[in-house]
Amino acid sequence: MKILHATSELYPLIKTGGLADVLGALPFAQQKRGDDVRVVLPYYRKVREALPETIEIASRDTFGGYVTVRFTDFNGIGLYLVDAPHLFDREGNPYHDAHYTDYSDNVIRFGVLSWAAAALACGLDENWGKPEILHAHDWQTGLAPAYLKHWQSPVRSVFTIHNIAYQGMFQAKHLAELDLPSSMYQVEGLEFNGQLSFLKAGLFYADHITTVSPTYAAEITQEPAACGLHGLLQTRHSEGRLSGILNGVDDAVWNPQHDKHLEKPYHLRAMQGKKVNKTAIQEQFGLPVDTDTLLLTMISRLTSQKGADLLLDALNRKLAEGAPLQFILLGSGVPGIEQAFKTLAAAYPNQVAVHIGYDEELSHRLIAAADIILVPSRFEPCGLTQLYGLKYGTLPLVRKTGGLADTVVDSDNASIKNKTATGFVFEEVSSEALSNALNQAANLWGSRTWSSIRKQAMQQDFGWHIAAENYNECYQQTY
Ligand code: ADP
Ligand code: GLC
Repeated sequence: MKILHATSELYPLIKTGGLADVLGALPFAQQKRGDDVRVVLPYYRKVREALPETIEIASRDTFGGYVTVRFTDFNGIGLYLVDAPHLFDREGNPYHDAHYTDYSDNVIRFGVLSWAAAALACGLDENWGKPEILHAHDWQTGLAPAYLKHWQSPVRSVFTIHNIAYQGMFQAKHLAELDLPSSMYQVEGLEFNGQLSFLKAGLFYADHITTVSPTYAAEITQEPAACGLHGLLQTRHSEGRLSGILNGVDDAVWNPQHDKHLEKPYHLRAMQGKKVNKTAIQEQFGLPVDTDTLLLTMISRLTSQKGADLLLDALNRKLAEGAPLQFILLGSGVPGIEQAFKTLAAAYPNQVAVHIGYDEELSHRLIAAADIILVPSRFEPCGLTQLYGLKYGTLPLVRKTGGLADTVVDSDNASIKNKTATGFVFEEVSSEALSNALNQAANLWGSRTWSSIRKQAMQQDFGWHIAAENYNECYQQTY
């Protein structure tokens, strides 16, 4: 099939979270299965620096000013770049300034991205022609299906929810600036709670909706997971137009056998390398070097979604009890949460270390080094670090929600016996439940059972080829 993906992030060019990882892998998996795939992305400053050589496809005077759509090859995939320096040529994060304040013109910035995606779907690039499917990701591209509708285009659209909590809500007055008709501003349209919602536009106007795990697809038909949108999602579900397709792991980027960031590569039949990575990280963070001490890690945006507060509580308690564990955090986000982890590290310098910030290489080294990766999320559409953990033999300890519930099997007596256990799962949103799961893990640490759970974890297949097949099936359903 001929597919155009529209996205605001693409690994390794620009990344704030899992969305980038998905777009850095799915198009390639689709191309491998024979699809003709291209991607459209804003020409942010970072992207311009990485990809200075482009060819011009078309220029238009739009509602967002003068916009040029450029084209380049990106590792064998055709990449369209939306070049509008007044909107995208900025330092740092794609959505907000250095003080975490959203850019005040995001409505126009991502309106233009959505517009460009729809224009390309309508044949803006005469050489490529029209795709069969416009596949838009998250609120930043939610208006693309609305433009297709408004322009009465026959091109089919799929909208993927990576996180329903981010909705792209703007004042209604902006609608006119976006060249969309006021008739779209209604409940049966893109109005939501008295505002204009990019996400709802995607949900309402796309021919099919997907989200990134089966469990999250079910959860978002109910509150509170639906964040107010359960009515629309229930309707779309009953029409057969809502599916859950699990994300994968990009083997070219995440594989302990050939991960160039590691101190020493390793694989299932040669696990000594994992210990070398552990020692190197303990040294790097100034923790006592001891491979027998259980080493936990968390690599995450620090927001309430991720349950870092539950973890802080549980760790405070366990460390006060004298639990012989080590913990290293890599993350950034809400300043209060960052500070709380720094305080914990200051109180237990021999057991806790934190790296506040974003560091791709360190994330690989930590996942290889640790024994457990923590993902105690309140909600999690899919989650990727638990998948990386499985692949690296770093057992995931997760809350039973969304994609975490779909990808990790708790090590209870039955699953240990029938050899399906791959990690540790707790259900209740509480630090007690998390502490109990930590106890369960600590009791198994160092045992032969641990080694066999680790083996089962490493044997899981989360290759992107599976998702690529599933997306193809769902594209067929748009007709
Ligand atoms: P989300 O997209 O909600 O942030 P995911 O688990 O899907 O959660 O994806 C997060 C991605 O971002 C993973 O690739 C993870 O390794 C990476 N990541 C998160 N925080 C950091 C950080 N501070 N440094 C490096 N990588 C990070
Ligand atoms: C979102 C979700 C995360 C998911 C990622 C990629 O950021 O929070 O759970 O893995 O998108 O789909």
